[in-house]
Amino acid sequence: MKRNDRILSNLVSASVLSADMLHLEEEIKKLGKSGVDMIHFDVMDGVFVNNISFGIPVLESINKLSPDLLLDVHLMITDPLKYINKFFLAGADYITFHLESESDTAETIEEIRRTGARTGLAIKPDTPAEAVYPYINDVDMILVMTVEPGFGGQEFMDMSDKIRNIREYAERNRSNPAHLFVEVDGGINDRTAPIVKNAGADVLVSGSYLFRADDMEKAVRTLRT
Ligand code: DX5
Ligand code: ZN
Repeated sequence: MKRNDRILSNLVSASVLSADMLHLEEEIKKLGKSGVDMIHFDVMDGVFVNNISFGIPVLESINKLSPDLLLDVHLMITDPLKYINKFFLAGADYITFHLESESDTAETIEEIRRTGARTGLAIKPDTPAEAVYPYINDVDMILVMTVEPGFGGQEFMDMSDKIRNIREYAERNRSNPAHLFVEVDGGINDRTAPIVKNAGADVLVSGSYLFRADDMEKAVRTLRT
């Protein structure tokens, strides 16, 4: 795919970590009308990261309410392998786990593939691009964190070189014919989106920017084009 095509076709995944939890139903319905492609669902266990968010029953409810939007589950948990099937059964379309977690990476990828969900591998800001190279053929998506995982609303960290290196490595070495998505997560807004897209990212996660926008639909358009 040419760089320009990729920019035109990039996807937007809205992080519900920034939603108003007292009005989650309205927030999800609002997302449905805003033109986002995916709902990004951040699962935190208080051990892998210093925060605890939400889990399987909330995902099940979102899946019932919004069957059309892809559910993009980001597991920030110590032992993801143990929970893959449960998140799949709760409705996850994409399941992304961290390379830095304690589960065996190859086994966890295999378990996600076994369920039929799309496979994502995430890396924190300090983890180099090379760490994902051994798995380049086995995953559908690489998630390059642009903040330290754990909280919404943090300042964007520029990971352009890492994104470019992963794209270039994939273009040269990936024999899997399916498109490899490169997702970014953390501090994505109208100012930072052009930076990550220019480096080759094509799935943009955004939480506080979308949920704080007066016009969410317009904010989604800004991230997409
Ligand atoms: C952070 C989460 C992100 C977070 C992004 O650990 O993985 O998905 O919700 O929020 P913003 O877009 O506000 O940085
Ligand atoms: Zn996330």
